[in-house]
Amino acid sequence: MEHKKKSSFSGSLGFVLAAAGSAVGVGNIWRFPYLAAKDGGGLFILVYLVLVLTFGFTLLTTDIAIGRRTKQNALQAFGTMHPKWNFLGKLTFLVPAIIMTYYTVIGGWVSKYVLVYLTAHGPAAAQDGYFLNFITAPVAPIVFMLLFLAATAVVVYFGVEKGIERFSKIVMPGLLLLVIGIVIFGLTLKHTAPDGTVRTGLQGLAVYFVPNFDGLTVRHFLHILMDAMSQLFFSLSVSMGIMITYGSYVKDDVNLGRSIRQIEFFDTGVALLAGAMIVPAVFMFSGTEGMASGPSLMFEALPKVFTAMGPVGHVVGLAFFVMLGFAALTSSVSILETLVANCKALFHIPRKKMCIILTVVSAGAAVLICLGYNVLFFSLPLPNGTNGQLLDVMDYISNSFLMPLISFLTSIFIGWVMKPKWIEEEMISSGHAFHGKKMYSFMIRFVVPVIMAVLFFQSTGIMK
Ligand code: PHE
Repeated sequence: MEHKKKSSFSGSLGFVLAAAGSAVGVGNIWRFPYLAAKDGGGLFILVYLVLVLTFGFTLLTTDIAIGRRTKQNALQAFGTMHPKWNFLGKLTFLVPAIIMTYYTVIGGWVSKYVLVYLTAHGPAAAQDGYFLNFITAPVAPIVFMLLFLAATAVVVYFGVEKGIERFSKIVMPGLLLLVIGIVIFGLTLKHTAPDGTVRTGLQGLAVYFVPNFDGLTVRHFLHILMDAMSQLFFSLSVSMGIMITYGSYVKDDVNLGRSIRQIEFFDTGVALLAGAMIVPAVFMFSGTEGMASGPSLMFEALPKVFTAMGPVGHVVGLAFFVMLGFAALTSSVSILETLVANCKALFHIPRKKMCIILTVVSAGAAVLICLGYNVLFFSLPLPNGTNGQLLDVMDYISNSFLMPLISFLTSIFIGWVMKPKWIEEEMISSGHAFHGKKMYSFMIRFVVPVIMAVLFFQSTGIMK
């Protein structure tokens, strides 16, 4: 929004909520649990938590401090800091462009499940194969995607993000409470498999939390590391310019360090709880074989839990998918908003017109992604050990390939060209202490570049 440039978040809380609105989305509730399940639960969580406290902290601090110090969005921020590094701003812009192609497809899946629970078809959705039938259908996924995209576009077109943010102050805590309730209910369940084995929710919780190091190889560990890192980028919305733009709206007296810790805490908390809601249920109903089912995990497991609740399951299911839909909407709004702002600056086209153009382009791309499950179906082995369809390939390109590259370049730029002091100065400019200053400087100069280079080469498949 034009006027947004000059105005800013009302205060620290407004900023934290807006950033959390962008950060908390299907990444936490859909993506985190399926990766955790695929990578064997506890070990993935352990790796993820370590990454949040080290890499997450470093990358989020970098993005937000760059934004507030330059008061520019990502496209211009790097060039303002150093003309030679202007290209990095352009590179970050590719990520939201790619994510936009598939985020609305998942938003569409969530919308479909809102309708399922609105029409009390929950038990049908709990049947095996329901989700697969839906996403492989030729028309329905496209219709729901368009619906979700239209909602996103309306919010961005009319510039009513503020209204949505106000609404998300109710929705986010509501979603959190509901998730906690579902976790507790799920843990009281037990299920008898056709072969007579009884599995309980509590056993599932152990699988989810307790790391299992049996037969761990270096290669497998690298896969976990790669998955966890891709999740970190995606979930925190870092290294894609979005947090730089948000940072540019933050007032100078806000304690950045504290806000960053709050965003991380909230985002990670929601993801951990979402996993505790889904992974034990998967283990209980489908055993360890069911854990590898990938992107379909949440949509298959939760209807089973809701059905086990009896009649209240309809209401709980409806409330859950509606709230998840809103969380997804705040995230997709932040992506489209960034694209519009950047393209407006690049092509000098008025904001509303740009919004329409981008919506049409995104719709075209998202239709292709939907067709990736039928007409354009393929199954490509990816270097992280999975087989992906079009959606997974786009997800892979943005989160496993581009983001390590961007983080690598950013760490070289900040660590060695601008120097960590440039960030430190911004962190203390409000008169608050910068906790973790030493770690920040060590991470950004040495650890981030090395690990990102490793992950980048691994993601290309050059290094196995
Ligand atoms: N972080 C959001 C989520 O977890 C997704 C997102 C990605 C939002 C990229 C903005 C940009 O769902």
